[in-house]
Amino acid sequence: MALIDIGDLQLSGDSRTKQDALFDAIRDKIVAQLWGKGLKLPSTRKLAQELGVSRNTVIHAYEQLHAEGYLESKAGSGYFVALELPDQFVATANQFEAPSQPIKAKDHSRAFSPGVPDLSEFPTQKWQRLLMRHTGRISLLGGQDIQGDESLRAALASYLATSRSVVCEPDRIVITSGAQQALAIAALLTSQNDRRLLMEQPGYAQMAKVLKLFNFEQIPAPVRPLLGLDLDVVENSEAEAIYVTPSNQYPLGTTLDINQRLRLIEWAKTRGGWIIEDDYDSEFQFAHRPYPSLQGLAAKTGHDQHVIYVGSLSKVMFNGLRMGYLVLPQSMVAEALTLKDALSGDSPTHTQAALADFVAEGDLVRHIRKMRRLYKQKHQIMVTMIERYFSDSVEVISQAAGLHVTLRWYGGISEQEWAERASTYGIVIRPFNYYEQFDEAGLRDWSGAVLGFGNVPIDEIEPKICTLAELFKS
Ligand SMILES: Cc1ncc(COP(=O)(O)O)c(C=O)c1O
Repeated sequence: MALIDIGDLQLSGDSRTKQDALFDAIRDKIVAQLWGKGLKLPSTRKLAQELGVSRNTVIHAYEQLHAEGYLESKAGSGYFVALELPDQFVATANQFEAPSQPIKAKDHSRAFSPGVPDLSEFPTQKWQRLLMRHTGRISLLGGQDIQGDESLRAALASYLATSRSVVCEPDRIVITSGAQQALAIAALLTSQNDRRLLMEQPGYAQMAKVLKLFNFEQIPAPVRPLLGLDLDVVENSEAEAIYVTPSNQYPLGTTLDINQRLRLIEWAKTRGGWIIEDDYDSEFQFAHRPYPSLQGLAAKTGHDQHVIYVGSLSKVMFNGLRMGYLVLPQSMVAEALTLKDALSGDSPTHTQAALADFVAEGDLVRHIRKMRRLYKQKHQIMVTMIERYFSDSVEVISQAAGLHVTLRWYGGISEQEWAERASTYGIVIRPFNYYEQFDEAGLRDWSGAVLGFGNVPIDEIEPKICTLAELFKS
């Protein structure tokens, strides 16, 4: 139940008595709709204490407001702003009412919203226990190391070494607010002399937003359906930094093999530049073993000073966690901390401590293993259903990885029209041009869309794909 904090309530000296002054002050708040309908007033004892008046004064003012229809009283619960105000004061403008139930957040988790993991499978009870374990720690209530909780960095260093061959010590890791903050810091770190950055085209719209915000010149690094990143263009460019999603290019779903990775590292080395490696979806590869990270490969030959590695817990745990990290060349750590300090200050302490245990006690790996099996199954069902209901009219062009499929088709309905029709059925599909920063939609002779399946229950996949196919053809 929403309570009123009396905040700046003032008793004016003009009224005849303190009781009148309090009556006027509260009535004014209600009439001006600053105290919304249905909100609970403080108890008479509390209000008397806060205002330094007698309790009787408050009791009589409340009774009078009640008698005149401004307040309602509920036996045993106290006084509330009336839902129906006296006629002469019925609201004119600025209708404000206490929400009777929490305002519903925009639903980002519907079928087939991209980038949402299966939220119902997350071990919430375990997570709750870990949070509880740390909630009582007084030492966590104050500010913390800007770089992030030391035990969390140690746990991540070990996890990244075993699962992604990332070579680092905990003091090269910086905890961030999701990959999003890591990407902003990474971009700024590369821009000391040159604000140009090679950006995958098509590419991750959230990275494009960062580059736009900080006035980077985005140089397209073309990615071709089924073929992947055009390394010739990269090698011939003047830029010193590139952003890549090498495990599962977003949104085309290609991957960089070992040779391509080595070529990219060679480019960064020769150029004296940087690769921002967003290792998104590396955990969910269904058709082949994941390739080692660019950072790990570069470290083998002593060139990891050219790689800034970015990771996120959004897909392997849940989006609302907002935890990510950077693995940096040692020489960049101090500058990264200055940037993080300016952008957000330190990271939430209890969440970090709970996350450190989740990683160190093996829960993260257990959860990833379980989810890999589930997503593989969902991916197979998606592909089978798309083939069944669309026959040859669309093709899946993304590799078997991650939490989405990317579709391509020639002729027929436009990607926007299909997305609009789907939304009227409560289904989300992402038109392909969402990922294009250089307005090349006109140059494409095909249409496309991205469908996320992470959070769609298995038994809903078939009916929803069937609906989409009908909308596609109608
Ligand atoms: C390419 C890419 N990188 C990173 C992320 C994770 O971002 P964040 O940690 O900010 O949720 C996503 C999420 O969809 C993504 O698509």
